[in-house]
Amino acid sequence: MIDTDCFIDGHVVKTADTFDVLDPSTGQVLAAVSRGGKAEIDLAVDAASRAARNWARLSARERAQHLRAVGDALSARSEELAMLESKDTGKPLAQARADASVAVQYFQFYANAVEQFFGDVIPSLPDVIAYTHQVPFGITGHIIPWNYPMQIACRTFVPALAVGNCAVVKPAEEAPLSVLAIARIAYEAGLPAGVLNVVPGLGIEAGAALSSHTGINHLSFTGSVPIGATIAAAAAANVIPVALELGGKSPNIVAADADLDLALPVIAKSIIQNAGQTCSAGSRLIVQDSVHDEVVDRLATIMGRLTIGAGPTDPDLGPLISEKQRGRVISMVRAAQETSDLRLGSADPLDREGFFFGPVLLDRVDPAAQIAQEEVFGPVVAVSGFSDIDQAAEIANGTDYGLIAAIWTSNVTTAHRLADDILAGQVYVNTYGAGGGVELPFGGFRKSGFGREKGFEALRAFCETKAVVIKVPR
Ligand code: NAI
Ligand code: MG
Repeated sequence: MIDTDCFIDGHVVKTADTFDVLDPSTGQVLAAVSRGGKAEIDLAVDAASRAARNWARLSARERAQHLRAVGDALSARSEELAMLESKDTGKPLAQARADASVAVQYFQFYANAVEQFFGDVIPSLPDVIAYTHQVPFGITGHIIPWNYPMQIACRTFVPALAVGNCAVVKPAEEAPLSVLAIARIAYEAGLPAGVLNVVPGLGIEAGAALSSHTGINHLSFTGSVPIGATIAAAAAANVIPVALELGGKSPNIVAADADLDLALPVIAKSIIQNAGQTCSAGSRLIVQDSVHDEVVDRLATIMGRLTIGAGPTDPDLGPLISEKQRGRVISMVRAAQETSDLRLGSADPLDREGFFFGPVLLDRVDPAAQIAQEEVFGPVVAVSGFSDIDQAAEIANGTDYGLIAAIWTSNVTTAHRLADDILAGQVYVNTYGAGGGVELPFGGFRKSGFGREKGFEALRAFCETKAVVIKVPR
């Protein structure tokens, strides 16, 4: 059974209109999904408001027990969820399995974390006792993209629920199925009705209705820069906080003294994972001149050997999410071809049904070129050179983004200097995280957005701090 309807207040809610969700590996219709709009968002916000009174009053331990139960239920069905995610997004099954496992980890981590999440006592004047409470906002809105639906949904709503908020989630129209399944499974595992509501629909309809709703007290968004700005404007109109995760142009920097046997498979994975449709994809490769040719040759060999196929057959590389996304990638590669060396692949779509493309390796890319400045969201790596580490830092910092970066070197000074100089929310040395584990704070500098998800930081992000000051005269 595939869940295709809104899940509000513990009930399935159908709408008169539906929209088609496609299987990206064939282009055929996978499911017709309820096209939620303002009416369903209103219902979901009302349900969340009613549920919030009791949910926020539970002790942290009671909420943690609920989250653990949901995590266990998802874990028991992780294979089913992984297969659903693989069909819906086209991602290779092994990657969908990893996503299902991370989704479960969010429930486990935040169940444990919230039991240890306390306010502060602030030593102040001698005749005053002052302490802080962490108070949930109330109703949180979450707008989810299609690239890692279940992982990103859980990344944002689980910490929100942990501290006592109730959530309304709008999954992406391209890939809403796993998030709908999670809402139902969570309810069946005992999560009270209305604590987690999911309304699928189009961005301009359900998404806009959610982001402008006056009953929402906090918004989280992951997606493109222009829509992020639109969401921030909607949040500003209602004077509510917003967390934006808007992707990046993340570099792998390879110094001449790097261990290439260690580096190259990880660098290849950083751009091939999820067909490059990853906010933290390693889409730029910045290589020191003396090892440039060796690095490019070896990377071209690795990327040239990838298996390609539908997600559920578990290839290395699946299709892109949609024809629209493929068109965008193709136009960017066509433009880049004019001014760089196409070392692997082509700007043409692959000759098979579905939305397959790539892989592509472009060498001798001008760091100022569009392909090195803008998010491609495809299996396309742009290689540029550097002579000394100051230049590497300058190139690394030379885009509008700053999500993550990796430095490959065996020199501890190079590692520390670059880690210091690079403007990014996460910096890796001799590894690459694609966002890292659930406990690592994650988020961007500059146009990669603001606010931090994951780790303990997310618990604070979903609370208002209240300071209480009590005069105790002596
Ligand atoms: P998008 O930003 O349009 O979509 C993301 C989410 O926002 C979806 O749930 C969508 O329904 C919703 N949305 C769209 N318009 C909205 C509106 N007016 N009000 C409220 N919600 C709205 O991204 P899209 O078009 O799917 O992809 C375009 C590019 O964005 C990609 O090529 C990629 O560069 C970037 N992107 C980055 C992601 C990341 O992980 N940071 C994820 C997805 C896309
Ligand atoms: Mg869009």
